[in-house]
Amino acid sequence: MTATRKALALCTIIIGMATFLTIHVHGHNENYRDQLQKSQNFRASLIQRDSVLSNSPSPTAAALYDVTSYGADPTGKVDSTEALLGAISDALKGPSSGFLMQGIVNLGGAQINLQGGNYLISRPLQFPVAGRGNLVIHGGTLKASDNFPADGYLIDLSPSSNNGSSSYNYEFITLRDLLLDSNYRGGGIQVVNSLRTSIDNCYITHFRTNGILVQGGHETYIRSSYLGQHITAGADPGERNFSGTAINLMGNDNSVTDVVIFSAAIGIVVSGQANTLSGVHCYNKATGFGGTGIYLKLPGLTQTRIVNSYMDFTGIVAEDPVQLHISSSFFLGDAYILLKSINGVMNGVNIVDNMFAGSDKGIEIVQLDQQNGAFNQVDQVVIDRNNVKGMKLKATVARESVQGNGSSWIADLNSVLLFPNLIKRVQYTFITPGNSFPNHALRNVTSNQVVIQSDVAVPATVFVTADQGNSF
Ligand SMILES: *[C@@H]1O[C@H](CO)[C@@H](O)[C@H](O)[C@H]1NC(C)=O
Ligand SMILES: *[C@@H]1O[C@H](CO)[C@@H](O)[C@H](O)[C@H]1NC(C)=O
Ligand SMILES: *[C@@H]1O[C@H](CO)[C@@H](O)[C@H](O)[C@H]1NC(C)=O
Ligand SMILES: *[C@@H]1O[C@H](CO)[C@@H](O)[C@H](O)[C@H]1NC(C)=O
Repeated sequence: MTATRKALALCTIIIGMATFLTIHVHGHNENYRDQLQKSQNFRASLIQRDSVLSNSPSPTAAALYDVTSYGADPTGKVDSTEALLGAISDALKGPSSGFLMQGIVNLGGAQINLQGGNYLISRPLQFPVAGRGNLVIHGGTLKASDNFPADGYLIDLSPSSNNGSSSYNYEFITLRDLLLDSNYRGGGIQVVNSLRTSIDNCYITHFRTNGILVQGGHETYIRSSYLGQHITAGADPGERNFSGTAINLMGNDNSVTDVVIFSAAIGIVVSGQANTLSGVHCYNKATGFGGTGIYLKLPGLTQTRIVNSYMDFTGIVAEDPVQLHISSSFFLGDAYILLKSINGVMNGVNIVDNMFAGSDKGIEIVQLDQQNGAFNQVDQVVIDRNNVKGMKLKATVARESVQGNGSSWIADLNSVLLFPNLIKRVQYTFITPGNSFPNHALRNVTSNQVVIQSDVAVPATVFVTADQGNSF
């Protein structure tokens, strides 16, 4: 690039910025109380401006709200709840252009900028009104004070009032580049009945209840984030005492990708359908200490995909799984998958192409919990092609060869097959080296013992493949 062209490009950027900064409020290093006064004046001018803007056709630039201009204290010494709620309230009634979903006012990408500050808050940052979308909160730390409500969330996307003009509360709210410290008082983020919420590059810690709770709505995407109740990198002496849940998905169609959960009793609880978890690393609380990495609590209709994840000393529990896919994942430290019977239903389950590593204690990679009754409605279950190092392989497909000289060959497949008595299909190959052509047949598969018999005694090797998975 020549010098002239560089200069030209710079010019364009400056002009671009000038048009972009319609409502940019700059933070100063003054005492925040002075700022509070100024910001009140400023807000008065903003409100005037709003009325002008709302009559104008469609504003072309996003509104920017710097929280220190509302008197928020970026040093975290003084309570900033009111200031932050002031910025949120202004943003929600700021300039807009049309609607997203019906009844969701498009705020045009308005940004609430935490300016890298660390803010102490004593009440949840709960949005005052519903029916807003296209808003970003980013770039700073929020910390709960010692009197923060024990059941509150630092950022609460549930409206304190909803006059019913929209069927969802919010759409396309982005929370990014945030450190949320719940100070063991409540949780990090609550998203209620909202659509297309992004939680990106957040570090959420010291939660008592949930790091993130999603209730109802659709499509909350949690990406590239770190959650842990206690700040640790493993082998923490207090691990037995970890409590709380890092991510609680009580809604459909959400996605968790590239997320590390470093402490909590439960890493992720899922109780809504069609969620996908990918690139999740759970080392929240070892199964041996009573922890669970991922708990799928949606018996009878699971519809969950877990791929490319890393279960690190903590496993997966699934109640009556119906449509569950677990693949390309790594289970370390004797971590295993527990399929728990509620009404005895298991259907459409794939557990394939995973790696399991353990400590030679004979821990089975997939286990059944049949305390509530046996799994007696099992169909389309494929547990196969997993590999083990220091753990015991379990599968729904088993292969064995039996050699003998006689008229009966028995392949006992119990050590591999998952279900105690459920062979649905057998294929076998009968090889005898002599000149005879004996008649032979499959006689019995009870208790996973495959019995092949011939009409005359011959030396033979029988190769058996038995499948518990498919009924067709
Ligand atoms: C209630 O609905 C009306 C029209 O649908 C809207 O203009 C107004 O902002 C809403 N009020 C609140 C508090 O959400
Ligand atoms: C765990 O909690 C118990 C009971 O609150 C307490 O006695 C114990 O010291 C804690 N252990 C660790 C390692 O923090
Ligand atoms: C199989 O058994 C028969 C009779 O019991 C014996 O004659 C034959 O040598 C045996 N064949 C082999 C290959 O062991
Ligand atoms: C199959 O084997 C079981 C147990 O060994 C036995 O009780 C049952 O009678 C056998 N079934 C047939 C058809 O031989």
